[in-house]
Parts: sequence; structure tokens; C-alpha cells
Amino acid sequence: MSERVPFPVLSADEAAAMINDGDFLGFSGFTPAGSAKAVPRSLAARARELHGRGEPFRVRVLTGASTSEDLDEALAQVNAISWRAPYQSSRSLRKRINNQETSFLDIHLSHLPQMLDYGFLGQINTAIVEAIDVTADGRIYLSSSVGCTPSILAHAEKVIVEINAYHSQRLWEMHDIRRLPRPPHRDPIPIQHPLSKIGTPFCTVRSEQIVGVVYNDESDGVPSFSPPDEVSSRIGDHIVEFLSQEMHAGRIPPEFLPLQAGVGNVSNAVMAALGAHPEVPRFQMYTEVIQDTQIALMQDEKILGVSTSAMSLSDGTMQTVYDNMDYFGPRIVLRPQELTNHPGVVRRLGVIGINTVLEMDIYGCANSTHVCGTQLMNGIGGSGDFVRNCYISILQAPSTAKGGKISTVVPMCSHIDHNEHSVNVLVTEQGLADLRGLGPVERAQRIIDKCAHPDYKDYLYDYIERSPMGHIRHDLGRCFDLHRAYMETGDMRSALGG
Ligand code: COA
Repeated sequence: MSERVPFPVLSADEAAAMINDGDFLGFSGFTPAGSAKAVPRSLAARARELHGRGEPFRVRVLTGASTSEDLDEALAQVNAISWRAPYQSSRSLRKRINNQETSFLDIHLSHLPQMLDYGFLGQINTAIVEAIDVTADGRIYLSSSVGCTPSILAHAEKVIVEINAYHSQRLWEMHDIRRLPRPPHRDPIPIQHPLSKIGTPFCTVRSEQIVGVVYNDESDGVPSFSPPDEVSSRIGDHIVEFLSQEMHAGRIPPEFLPLQAGVGNVSNAVMAALGAHPEVPRFQMYTEVIQDTQIALMQDEKILGVSTSAMSLSDGTMQTVYDNMDYFGPRIVLRPQELTNHPGVVRRLGVIGINTVLEMDIYGCANSTHVCGTQLMNGIGGSGDFVRNCYISILQAPSTAKGGKISTVVPMCSHIDHNEHSVNVLVTEQGLADLRGLGPVERAQRIIDKCAHPDYKDYLYDYIERSPMGHIRHDLGRCFDLHRAYMETGDMRSALGG
């Protein structure tokens, strides 16, 4: 690690003053993990001040995925984001996007680095990245995530590095940075095992790109998850039962296959259920984010190793990792999202993917992103990268939302992120529908039978029966009646009749 940083040391305000209205900015961060903090906060203050004087100040923002409150939330509160990609989970930004105040590009996370590399998104003016260290020859050692940062750095005219002393100086031991060449010069990616390393522990830039360094010592501020509720635990139990049946049938090998688990409350609870179950053997993960639960399972030696793009951990759990780097260092690999979510690697390793959706339809399509087809929730994130390429792709959701007013099993999804050609298994707390090998109407019967909430089952069966005959039976006049009822009355049950 470097003795002394050979670049101008700036305050966060001085760094923010280098940014101009209309700039295209690339930030580090994949969830709050490794997200730049001090500079975006100062940028939000600068935007507020300029707006107060009647001057325009809005920027285009690209990151790895969602970010911290200091970035998306702070900038969106002052309406300083004109364009955003590829994923977000901020309350204020969601509102701006749904009001058409911010343009949002919702794309697969594995596609983002290559879209930058191919020149599809243009040149980045300034990259603002969190690191644990930077050297005179332009090596940047990232912190608790990698995300899209290597590609952002490669395409940025200027680079500002936030050196964050909160993180362990040994984080570099986990990093495995490699960018893929542009076609037609791509070689096979030699990842044969979740813990294979194929790159360097640092990103490289030309030292002239680095215009300054800002010091910081703040944690990622990842909130803790609430303990698993009954619904999520039951979803977890169904998945455990399914996976152990698959093992006994010889369709999953005895050494098991690597797991990928999505973000959010349901996913966190399901991982806890998987970990607690004696039927599930010890396993590896090839995933894009790890949360607190996975660290606990690693301590219990239930999870043997993890490849991920971010450690999205609450402060206490992060401290556990930093205090035990001899243990965790060799067991966690942090990589660019281009590799964690790479379709070819996911398929080669035989990853079993478990992701959460907003709604699923009776034929096996699923909506991860848009409530009633119009209101963005977060974005597709990496779910599509995994669903399309997994050994078995499992999608989960509670069977109802908003206290039963919404059925998450509907005749036709109001927006489709994953379609019936890719989805293998659907699960709710009611049960698990294994769709492999089934034609459309058999799928519909199984999904309603196993996954729908009892309040909505008769309605859904009746929908199929009264729909015109076809390979897929749909009634285009009625397929959105549940959604329409929800929009008009606030309760889908108002469409159920007598
Ligand atoms: N219609 C309307 N709202 C719905 C809904 C539906 N069909 N299904 C769920 N919701 C609401 C819930 O009520 C909840 O709202 P609240 O916060 O106001 O209570 C919110 O969506 C989140 O649902 P929750 O049950 O807490 O699940 P979660 O935290 O696991 O998040 C997703 C679920 C789908 C929003 C989240 O997993 C996501 O964004 N997925 C897409 C990205 C992805 O899958 N990435 C995976 C690779 S890491």
C-alpha cells in the first residue's frame, strides 16, 4: 500500500466544485457497499445552492447498481439527476423517475460494462470512486464493492478518488479485477470454480486522469434486515424441500451447485432458511451481492466460499469480516459485475438462482420491476442475467402483497421482465410450482394450484376456463381485470365477485 498519496488532496466541496451542469458522472457503488459518499453529498449541497440562485445543475449518473442515501437519495431530493442507469432503490429517485423528471435506463447489470466499452453510452466526464488506496502509477484499490467501477474508470476523462479509512486495508486480498476485451478479441473466461481468480487486486488508470483525492472514514451504512417473517420462512422451506428432492433424484450432484440469491427482505429470509436446513449440504455462492445472512452462514461453515460484486453488510457484520480477514479473505472474491453476472460463467458453473419478483402470471412470466405495468419499483438488476442462464431458475414472492389486496399470481403480468421460456420454478408461501417440461395450460394449473392464495384460486381457474381456446389461453379483454380493480378500488378482491 502507498506511503503517501501523490495527488492533490481536496475537500469534498472542492471536488464537487469540479463538476459542471450536464456532466456525465460515473460513481463506484453496488448497493451502499463501496458507494462514493462525501463527494455526492457535497454535490447535492452544491445543486441545492445553485438551484436556489435559479441556476441549472443536473447531472447524468451511472453506477454499478443501487447506491447509498448519500448518492441517489441526496441528489434526487434536490432534483439533480437528469439521467440514471442501471438500477436504483431510492424513494426520492423512484418518484422522480415515475414523474418523468429523471430518465432511467433499466438494463441487465452484466450488460452495463460492455455497453460502456462498446461506446454505446458515451464518454464519462468524471469518475468518483471509493477506494482503500491509490498509488502514484495509477493503481486504485477498491473498497467493499467492484460493480462497474473498472469500466467507469476506463472511460472517464477525470477521476476523483475517495479514500475511505473505515474499510480494512486488507480488502484488496478479495479483489479480482479483470475487464473483457471487445469482440472479436474475447477469449473464454477461465472461471472454473466460484473462487477462481483471473485478474489483479486493483484497477488501473493513467495517473494523469486522477485530479484529486478526498479523505473519508464513513461506513457503508447498510441497514440491518428485519428477522425473517413466517411467509418468507415458508418460501424458504419449500425451496429447501425442492432442492433436496432434486439431490435425491440425482438432478443436482451430491457436492451441490453454487447458489445465487437476489436482494431484499424475502431473499435474506430464504437464505437463512436454506442455511438452517440439515438437508442442504454445505455450498458455494456465485452471486452479485452478499448480505448479513451469508456471513453468518460462512462462520457456521455452511457456505464455503462466495464470488460476489459487493459485500452489502451492516456495520456490525462488516466489522466481523474485517476482524477476521485471515478467515474471510480466502473465502470471498469481489469481482466486476460483468463477471459475477456473466451468462457464460453462470451457465458453466451451473448456478441455481433464487430471485424475488413483484408478480408472476399463470403461464410462468414474471414482473420484477413495474407495479401495474407503469410504476418503477427498483429495476431488473441482475435478475435477468441469472434467470435466463441458471441451471435451475427459481422465482419467489409472497402470494399476496399489501395485506391481501394484491394477488402476486395474476392472469397476465402487467410488465414482463422474465418470460416462460426461462423460468423453471415459481414459489410462494403457499407452495412451489415446478414448471420444467410442462406446456402452457399444465403450467397454469400447477401455478394456480401450488402458488396462488386461496382467495384468488377460483377466479384464476375460471379465467382459464372462460378464455378462448389456443396454445396459451388468454382473454385479452379480461387479462388485466385484477390490476384494473386494484387501480380503481385499491383492492384486487373487488374483481372477484360474489
Ligand atoms: N404489486 C405492488 N406492490 C408489490 C407487489 C405487487 N405485486 N409485490 C410486492 N410489492 C411491494 C411490497 O408491498 C413492498 O412494499 P412496501 O415496502 O411499501 O411494503 C415492496 O414491494 C417490496 O416487497 P417485499 O415483499 O418487502 O420484497 P423485497 O424487499 O424482497 O423486494 C423486489 C422485492 C421485487 C422489489 C426486489 O426483490 C427487487 O427489486 N427485485 C428486482 C431486482 C432483482 O431481482 N435483483 C436480483 C439480483 S441481486
